[in-house]
Amino acid sequence: GSAQLMSRPALHYTATNTWLNDPNGLVYNQGVYHLFYQNNPFDNVWGNMSWGHATSEDLLHWTEHPVAIACDEQEDVFSGSVVVDEDNTSGLGTLENPPLVAIYTSAFKEGSGLQGTQAQSLAFSTDSGMTWQKYAGNPVLNRGSAHFRDPKVFRHEGSDGAFWVMVAVEAQHQQVVLYRSDDLKAWEYLSTFGPANATGGEWECPDLFPLPVDGDPDHVKWILVVNINPGAVAGGSGGQYFVGHFDGVRFIADTDSLVQASADGTVNLPDCLWLDWGRDYYAAVSFSNAPNNRRIMIGWMNNWDYANSLPTQPWRSSMSLAREVELTTINGLPRLVQRPVLSPGFGRNIHTVQDMEVGSSPLALPDFDTAQVIDADILPGTARVVSLTLFGATRLSFDAATHQLTLDRRNSGHTTFHEKFASTESAPVVLEDGILRLQVIVDHGSVEVFAQGGKVALTDLVFPGPGSVGTELSAEGGTATVRKLTVSAVS
Ligand code: FRU
Repeated sequence: GSAQLMSRPALHYTATNTWLNDPNGLVYNQGVYHLFYQNNPFDNVWGNMSWGHATSEDLLHWTEHPVAIACDEQEDVFSGSVVVDEDNTSGLGTLENPPLVAIYTSAFKEGSGLQGTQAQSLAFSTDSGMTWQKYAGNPVLNRGSAHFRDPKVFRHEGSDGAFWVMVAVEAQHQQVVLYRSDDLKAWEYLSTFGPANATGGEWECPDLFPLPVDGDPDHVKWILVVNINPGAVAGGSGGQYFVGHFDGVRFIADTDSLVQASADGTVNLPDCLWLDWGRDYYAAVSFSNAPNNRRIMIGWMNNWDYANSLPTQPWRSSMSLAREVELTTINGLPRLVQRPVLSPGFGRNIHTVQDMEVGSSPLALPDFDTAQVIDADILPGTARVVSLTLFGATRLSFDAATHQLTLDRRNSGHTTFHEKFASTESAPVVLEDGILRLQVIVDHGSVEVFAQGGKVALTDLVFPGPGSVGTELSAEGGTATVRKLTVSAVS
């Protein structure tokens, strides 16, 4: 293919010159959001796994910092989390200056004496996350497994007081394992969840957190996030979740969030609960200590199917936008709703359409030279298909007969860098009062779609070529009405 240089995303975090994958150690502390991430400090393909580091005050604009936790001769530093150890339970800081403690997976190398083992280790910072020291007693939790990784730790107020809870995976057994600790150093086994629902790949990067249902503090449910690769709904990598209850020992999924396997042991993937229906939202986990009890997640905007081949340089890969998640009753069941975090007044409105009918001749919209957000309320009316075309030939369409929202990137520009890249992804969407509500965030290299106020999310990478221009809305087989459509430029 052509060696066209891709523009760097305007709103999505990239490491300046290097490779990144999973977000790690998402934590809010002293007014600053920290994004650590799987990083190869020396190259733009996977390897030499270390924790890179960036910070932001608005979750949109990030500043890169030096590598926080580096690989060494003994270990690669795989995914994990960070907690603010407010009471200095670990003794790794002081009460006056509580430490940030990272709980990460040591992937032990040849010559380490633990070669091939994955176990959990600590690193700590007493300067607000800028420099880190590995704990001398590592690893702190070793069960002799080669696939035990991605610890997410949170503070839990139990009936017997507060303690730390870790969720991690036995990746090849499709299991989430839970442990507890008083000091982050000594861990006691609690329970195992899974296999359940999508099990066609390794389970990775779990998360467990409470959320009020419809904002009611007296009605709290727990969400267990389980990323899976391959075997996600759009193929390859993706994130599923379960709704249930955590009693301090066990996570018990509500039966309505569990899918019955058929006789041959398979489940119908669209019946599982998915964070995103696209190809490129993986390893999503949430921030610790986000202000005002908000639950904010970030995913790696990529898919292991083709991650190492993306046609960008010198960087490779980006993070998704931060998404605020809430639990809302939909058809009588508590389900996640996700909205991208776009600070108020974030954008400059550059185009508005109001109460306009769209028939056989398409409605032209302004083109993209920076990141843009399209908000649209559309009545499909008599149209069979309503489509938003981006970059000339990337097509987001709603089919009124099947109620499927489909993103087709087969003609999106550069697609041949990997045989698995060209694809179409679909998600079921239920109109509300006959209205299709879309929020589409278009940046250099990606399209993130939130439908019906965030009930459905669909994220795909796209790499438009030199001729990939033109944005328009069209209707086929009838007339649709654009109730309101705005385009905002964001930088
Ligand atoms: C998920 C993952 C994790 C692992 C990390 C290694 O993308 O495979 O399970 O900790 O990436 O970079």
